[in-house]
Amino acid sequence: MFIVIRRNEAEVGRKAGAIVAEMAKKVGPKVVLGVATGSSPLSTYAELARLVSTGELDLSQASAFALDEYVGLPVDHPESYHATIHRTVTEPLGLDPARVHVPDGNAQDLDTAAADYEAMIEAAGGIDVQILGVGANGHIGFNEPSSSLASRTRMKVLTQETRRDNARFFDSLADVPRYSMTQGLGTIMDARRIVLVATGANKAKAVQAMVEGPITSMCPGSVLQWHRRVTVVIDLAAAADLRLTDYYRDVYANLPHGPNQP
Ligand code: F6R
Repeated sequence: MFIVIRRNEAEVGRKAGAIVAEMAKKVGPKVVLGVATGSSPLSTYAELARLVSTGELDLSQASAFALDEYVGLPVDHPESYHATIHRTVTEPLGLDPARVHVPDGNAQDLDTAAADYEAMIEAAGGIDVQILGVGANGHIGFNEPSSSLASRTRMKVLTQETRRDNARFFDSLADVPRYSMTQGLGTIMDARRIVLVATGANKAKAVQAMVEGPITSMCPGSVLQWHRRVTVVIDLAAAADLRLTDYYRDVYANLPHGPNQP
């Protein structure tokens, strides 16, 4: 993993946005993005939106696949990931809504909808650049601890910890859905490049376990240690528990190909 440490959330967003933009340009206009919801990638999306608005980046022909969606939440609910992705990604980044896909958490048959989502990703040629956050419990997507490291898109029951963490988006804890449909860890691992962003002290334990701990389904993000092209962009607070910080800084300071091209 390539670890980039910035001072704060704003700097994390600028750096992660620059890295994603560089990767997207390298792939070409039809780049396929994987997009996370939640707070972590918002500053990254803001930087990408800025690059689009200045004409430095054009995503009008790009496609995007969301990581996950709540099950049973109407798509027009403001906190559905359909609505959230439209508001925070599709519009500000100038994507064509017809090429932005979110799992169908309202399907009658969730297994078929999950298999269809996998097939859609495959038909698009796979995900070129996957943007990820990480939960305080180490989840990526909604792959909660104990998820199969080989899992594909499917329905997952959310942990109480995740429901409590996401209660800030709803009127009360009781309103937070209990189920989600999420890309699996195996699905995420198929992405060609991964950029994970994390900020804040409540992510420090998960970041340390993910980057430096053993590969274990108890910290689902740790599966990324098996991926060859993962960039982790974090602020000082989220980096606080890392043990090899000096080494990561040294690697970053001596990059042969420039700071946005890990
Ligand atoms: C979001 C997702 C989750 C979040 C994680 C962190 O689509 O799949 O894994 O990335 O829960 O959430 P935030 O960024 O809100 O702390």
